[in-house]
Parts: sequence; C-alpha cells; structure tokens
Amino acid sequence: MAPTSLVTGCAGFIGSHLSEKLLAEGHQVIGLDCFTSYYDRAIKERNLSVARSHPQFRFIDGNILEQDWSVLLEGVDYLFHQAAQAGVRSSWDQFPVYTTHNINATQVLLEAARFASLRRFIFASTSSIYGDAEAYPTAETLAPRPVSPYGVTKLAAERLGQIYYQNFGVPFVALRYFTVYGPRQRPDMGFHKFIQAAFAGRPLQVYGDGLQTRDFTYIAEVVEANLRAALTDNPVNGEVINIGGGSRVVLKDVLKLIGELTGYPVQQVHISPQAGDARHTAADITKARNLLDYNPQFSLVTGLKQQVVWLRESTVALAT
Ligand SMILES: NC(=O)c1ccc[n+]([C@@H]2O[C@H](COP(=O)([O-])OP(=O)(O)OC[C@H]3O[C@@H](n4cnc5c(N)ncnc54)[C@H](O)[C@@H]3O)[C@@H](O)[C@H]2O)c1
Repeated sequence: MAPTSLVTGCAGFIGSHLSEKLLAEGHQVIGLDCFTSYYDRAIKERNLSVARSHPQFRFIDGNILEQDWSVLLEGVDYLFHQAAQAGVRSSWDQFPVYTTHNINATQVLLEAARFASLRRFIFASTSSIYGDAEAYPTAETLAPRPVSPYGVTKLAAERLGQIYYQNFGVPFVALRYFTVYGPRQRPDMGFHKFIQAAFAGRPLQVYGDGLQTRDFTYIAEVVEANLRAALTDNPVNGEVINIGGGSRVVLKDVLKLIGELTGYPVQQVHISPQAGDARHTAADITKARNLLDYNPQFSLVTGLKQQVVWLRESTVALAT
C-alpha cells in the first residue's frame, strides 16, 4: 500500500516542493496550510497549484491549532512539519505570532503524535538556533546560542520534540536547514530580493559590510534530506541533523554572481547590520552524511540559475 504523508505548511516555499516530491514518489499526501499573512496569499496559492491538481493530494485549508489531530493522523505514516512563522527580523516586535506558530503549534502536533502510529515525525529546524556559533563549520554538538527571538522559538520546538521522543517514543527528528534558496524562495529572503533588485535596476540595501558568510542550501537538497530522514533505518529518532549546502559563500560574492547571471550588476548601498542576524553560518554536515547518506549535489551557480529563471518567469506572469 502507498505510504501516507502529511505536510504542514504545504503552500510555503519548502512545503510545496516537498509535497510535489512525495507525490512523485508515490505517496498519498495530505497538505495543510492556513495561509498566514506573512506574505501574499496569491504567491502561496501559486506554490500549491501543482500539488493541488494531483489526484493523490488532499488539501486542508486550516490552522494546526484548530484541527482534530486524533482523526487527521489516523493512517498517516510520515509527518513533515514545515509550517512556521519564518523570518528573523519581525520576530522582535511580533513575538506572540512566533510563539503561537512555532512553539504552540509544534506542541499540539507532538501531543497528538503520542497516540498516533507515525513512522517518523520530521521537524523543519534551522541554523538560526546556533546564532553566532562557537566554531565554523558548526557541528550539532556545539551549544545552540540563538541571537533572534525566531531562533529561540525554533530551538524550543526542537527541544519539545526531543523530550516527546525521550518520554513517549515519538519518532521525532529535527533537520536544521541552512539558508534555503531556489524557485519559490520566500519574498522576504535575500536571494529573492537581490535578484528582483537586479532586474529592476534598483540599488540594494545590504546589511553590514557584505563580508558576512552563509551556507546556502538548494531546495532540492532539503527535500531529499526530508525523504531520507523519513525512510532511513538508521537510528535518527531524537536526533538533530544539520542540512547545509556543502559550502560557505561571502555575501558580496553572491551579489557579483547574481549580477553576472541576470546581466544586471547589483548596485549596493550598505546599511547597519540588523539585530538578530548571525554574522556567519556554516554547516558541518558529517552527521547528515553518516546517518542519511546526504550528499549535496547542486553548486551555487546551478541553483541560482534556477532561481533567476523562475523569478524572471513569475515576474512576467504577474505583470501580464
Ligand atoms: N527558508 C529557509 O531558508 C529556512 C531555513 C531554515 C529553516 N526553515 C524552516 O523551514 C520551514 C518552511 O520555511 P519556508 O521558507 O518554506 O516558509 P514559508 O513561510 O514559505 O512556509 C511556511 C508555511 O506555513 C504556513 N503556516 C504557518 N503557521 C501555520 C499554522 N499554525 N497552521 C497552518 N499553516 C501554517 C504558512 O501559511 C506558510 O505557507 C519553516 O519551519 C522554517 O522555520 C526555513
């Protein structure tokens, strides 16, 4: 019988790609999303359109906090919990939104998972839990020291998952994604804004000196890591695992590359660094290699080309 997967946040950037991949792999997929107002609903509807037209996909337009999970989780094999209030900057002044969607919603799912028969509960965690890390590349053994309220809420959710595993055997695993990019990237995220600025010939505001570094991870790698984390027989329950792109890049070099790929050099205006932004991120992915046989395949150039093409096409589609 085909496995059944439930994807929360299925209309978002990562959840929509993951849903499509699961469908392509023959899963029955239940997708849930409540279209939070963080960015335009029309963008999320567009993200969801491919999965929604698939006969093995059932969509629930609703909030995690308002479902009868004892019914919804019946017969579900894999739960991919991607829904969250993302974004670092607004987590200072909108903290209750973050605690609601990131902590409370995760706890509701974990509590329901105690009484369900899940084979695995995969949680979308983040490199933001490391903050300004003690060392780079950063291994999972280093102490989390988030520098944003967003990172604090995701760390709390991760820890909840671990104690639900320890106390009740919920087969929880957290994947700590490092800055994900590619087609459908959220409109508040760096590459999306940089590419749009390049197309529009608009000067781009760069936080700080542009020498900050990031480990960028192409969307297909993150989707692959989710599938591997679900299906592996290795002992991943209760674990946290870094999912990075395999290389660390200086921001100003990314901007130069975007100029080359779009054909429009990005003009930069430097403004002060933002509270809550870590200066560097770099993933040590040894654990993902060992436990999940995870090996990132996409170079930054290849992945960025895909995002440039997508953004060019979707900008044209929106204008017509
Ligand atoms: N994009 C990245 O670079 C990145 C990096 C690290 C971690 N993450 C994590 O990955 C996950 C997905 O991120 P994304 O970039 O796709 O974000 P996204 O905002 O595009 O998608 C999240 C989706 O969840 C939905 N949602 C939020 N709260 C909900 C609730 N209570 N009930 C139902 N639906 C709800 C939203 O409407 C949205 O469509 C998040 O958990 C995020 O913290 C993302």
